[in-house]
Amino acid sequence: MRIDIITVLPELLESPFSHSIMKRARDKGLLQVEVHHLRQWAVNEYGQVDDYQYGGGAGMVMMCEPLANAIESLSKDRKYDEIIFMTPDGERFNQSIANQLSLKENIIIICGHYKGIDERIREHFVTREISIGDYVLSGGELAAAIVVDAIGRLLPGVLNDETSALMDSFQDNLLAPPVYTRPADFRGWKVPDILLSGDPKKVDDWRYEQSLQRTRERRPDLLDKHE
Ligand code: ADE
Repeated sequence: MRIDIITVLPELLESPFSHSIMKRARDKGLLQVEVHHLRQWAVNEYGQVDDYQYGGGAGMVMMCEPLANAIESLSKDRKYDEIIFMTPDGERFNQSIANQLSLKENIIIICGHYKGIDERIREHFVTREISIGDYVLSGGELAAAIVVDAIGRLLPGVLNDETSALMDSFQDNLLAPPVYTRPADFRGWKVPDILLSGDPKKVDDWRYEQSLQRTRERRPDLLDKHE
């Protein structure tokens, strides 16, 4: 899978994909992430990519021309399945959207800045608008990093043990059960006996019960969607 990110702050996206699971995904050639500086499509030699908004008001707006040129230039080399704009007024990101996007081949992500991007880009190019939550960030870069991370770890072959993504919280609309490691007794705080029983069926049942209980207590809204 290939993800092209268009941004005015490429530096913000250097680290998130260079470590741990994202690094492994890229090293194995399962995920290609290309970060493009919007300024290479600036409208003049000063690197201008934004301008005052029509109708007045504080805050600059990212102009049509650089964004349209960026999208069209990338689209010459491949067909994109989705052109995503990161914005607080988009649909709220969740595991189901991550699953859907992980099945795509090529995606562009546009990171907004300032007051946002000219509406005509949203109307004519953007196919999906995503928010990572009901709060406003200073730009779309960190939001894009979160979306790419959530998608990347779902790609087949990225996680060592493929079942581990299936066991994640939210994958079946249940929160994950508690986990423990050695020692079995730390300061008198004991690991539940059942996990030491060596009986996989009992362990599975216990984990499922714990997941249900945790979801009931913390996120009862999810239970409506759990099959
Ligand atoms: N850009 C600014 N805030 C954002 C948010 N909450 N989600 C996605 N993109 C954003």
